[in-house]
Amino acid sequence: MTHYTGLIERYRKRLPVSDSTRIISLNEGNTPLIQLQNIPRLIGKEVDIYVKFEGLNPTGSFKDRGMTMAVTKAVEAGSHAIICASTGNTSASAAAYAARAGIRAFVLIPEGKIALGKLAQTLMYDAKIIQISGNFDQGMQLVKEVADHAPVTIVNSINPFRIDGQKTAAFEIVDALGFAPDYHCLPVGNAGNITAYWKGYTEYARDRVCGNLPVMCGYQAAGAAPFVLGEMVDHPETVATAIRIGHPQSWDFAWTAQRESGGWFDKFTDEQILAAQKMLSQFEGIFCEPASATSLAGALHDIGSGKIPEGSKIVCTLTGNGIKDPEIAMMQCADAKPITIDASLDAVKRAILDSL
Ligand code: F0G
Repeated sequence: MTHYTGLIERYRKRLPVSDSTRIISLNEGNTPLIQLQNIPRLIGKEVDIYVKFEGLNPTGSFKDRGMTMAVTKAVEAGSHAIICASTGNTSASAAAYAARAGIRAFVLIPEGKIALGKLAQTLMYDAKIIQISGNFDQGMQLVKEVADHAPVTIVNSINPFRIDGQKTAAFEIVDALGFAPDYHCLPVGNAGNITAYWKGYTEYARDRVCGNLPVMCGYQAAGAAPFVLGEMVDHPETVATAIRIGHPQSWDFAWTAQRESGGWFDKFTDEQILAAQKMLSQFEGIFCEPASATSLAGALHDIGSGKIPEGSKIVCTLTGNGIKDPEIAMMQCADAKPITIDASLDAVKRAILDSL
């Protein structure tokens, strides 16, 4: 058994690298596919639900899959600086891989609208953080414009190498299960990830690594649901700040994934998203960030309505780690404040007996 050295090495034959390419990696990928045990029983349905826990990547989100490729290719092309707009995870990932490569990272983030952990990470990795008094969509527009005027490589998912890196998550799922799931559920913001998964699944099916393809289910936050409305949203709002996006960059690709897979888009309220996040933590011991739980909120809704029938094998991608957003977690648990007692055996005993 050789030491795992990242997804580019593992899937080298399926990625645009050569023997002389210097690989910029933090050993990303190879994340666990965890079968839910308690939630299916709780909802009383015969379904196999697996979660692909992407929060266990090196910077805590699926963005690392795309970033190892994008930064590897930027460095190969001689770039000394990368830039992105971000709701927080892309910026953290870009900053980390730039640090690893020894190049600069510039990140544009919407002021006051990114989770605390993501900001802390990005600062620690020493990126140049530019906060704008605007949202992600405005930041994305500015990044595209500035890249025409400055020697910086864009590492948002409009960079095709990002999609190539992220498609490996679909490979890992098929490699783990031996087949593609019947349904694949994802939170959708910019729609790069749904595009990447569809690319990965169709590539494996074309090469007969798997004999089937999943139905792709893209779930959005109710206040930021351009795919459900069928038009761009100018003022997106949701507690799930990672997917607070109204003008998705991979618009056409995502519609192709939906159409070709026979899938659909749907939207869920902040309350539904937060309930799914709490449920996963409380009943399965899996702590993802709010946006990530949108995939489970959607799956549970569609299982409940019968749109996803019993007997189905379902994969939900959990895109980011719950630790990234401590403020929302504390808000979710406002009624479960830790108790403070004397440091004595008696007091501890009483506290335990009281809550048994
Ligand atoms: N989940 C999380 C945790 C995310 O950070 C994102 C996107 C998504 C889902 C949606 O993925 O954009 O490929 O449809 N975050 C980007 C960022 C926009 O800047 O970190 P998508």
